[in-house]
Amino acid sequence: MKILITGATSGIGQQLVADYACEGHHVIACGRNAEALKKLADEFPDYVETLQFDTVDREKTIELLGSINQIDVAILSAGVCEYLDIDSFDAQLFERVFTVNVQGTMNCVQGLLRTLQPGSKLVLVGSLARLLPFTRAQAYGGSKAAIHYITRSLEVDLAPKGIRVLSISPGFVKTPMTDANDFEMPMRVSVDYASQRIRKGIEKNKRDIGFPTIFTLMLKTMSILPQAWQVAISKRMSKGNE
Ligand SMILES: NC(=O)c1ccc[n+]([C@@H]2O[C@H](COP(=O)([O-])OP(=O)(O)OC[C@H]3O[C@@H](n4cnc5c(N)ncnc54)[C@H](OP(=O)(O)O)[C@@H]3O)[C@@H](O)[C@H]2O)c1
Repeated sequence: MKILITGATSGIGQQLVADYACEGHHVIACGRNAEALKKLADEFPDYVETLQFDTVDREKTIELLGSINQIDVAILSAGVCEYLDIDSFDAQLFERVFTVNVQGTMNCVQGLLRTLQPGSKLVLVGSLARLLPFTRAQAYGGSKAAIHYITRSLEVDLAPKGIRVLSISPGFVKTPMTDANDFEMPMRVSVDYASQRIRKGIEKNKRDIGFPTIFTLMLKTMSILPQAWQVAISKRMSKGNE
């Protein structure tokens, strides 16, 4: 298979590149960090080619992704996370997070829609954070809720073209992104585990790939409770992290 992965220079995306390459697939690894891209290409010279671009650069992103010959699976993992300090509310933080997580991802989708053929898969990486109103996560959780909605809505419109659209909702995964967190992260899993669950889910065409399973079930259950209960649970969690 020919697999394109954004966010390939770190964390989940980087692990997916290595694992797919080890399985003998041809991987197009995308990111901004030239050094990390070179390392991947050097490690898997027969399996990995690289594309260096910033997904926020709309024209370049569309041009590059729209001119690829053929792709079987595109996994859009590039993303950022920033938490809000309510006492110094910063609207620009929303702009930064939404620009990469939502607009950058849509720039990739626009390019890829020129390339993806019937039978291919478009996979968007969201987060379980979309399920509950977590403290300080207004921008990050909001951007991932948007990604999940967009994924479901794209599924409706791309089905007639034979393109499957899948949504990935990880819980906490140990990567540079979560290494920056200063709070407790329940059930955090390794990046190897994340890659394994994602690859298996994609292979089985699971439209909503959430992991780890127990954490996913807990959050999905909480998300159907009355809103007042959800807020109470979140308040209690935020107290636990003080
Ligand atoms: N780790 C978790 O617990 C967790 C949980 C739920 C969801 N997720 C989601 O999973 C995805 C991957 O997260 P991660 O933990 O692997 O994070 P990470 O280690 O920080 O990696 C983020 C990746 O995104 C790329 N990126 C960021 N901004 C970019 C831009 N403007 N243009 C191109 N690439 C850009 C980075 O590449 P460059 O530095 O080369 O630009 C990097 O490869 C994200 O969408 C994240 O929201 C992660």
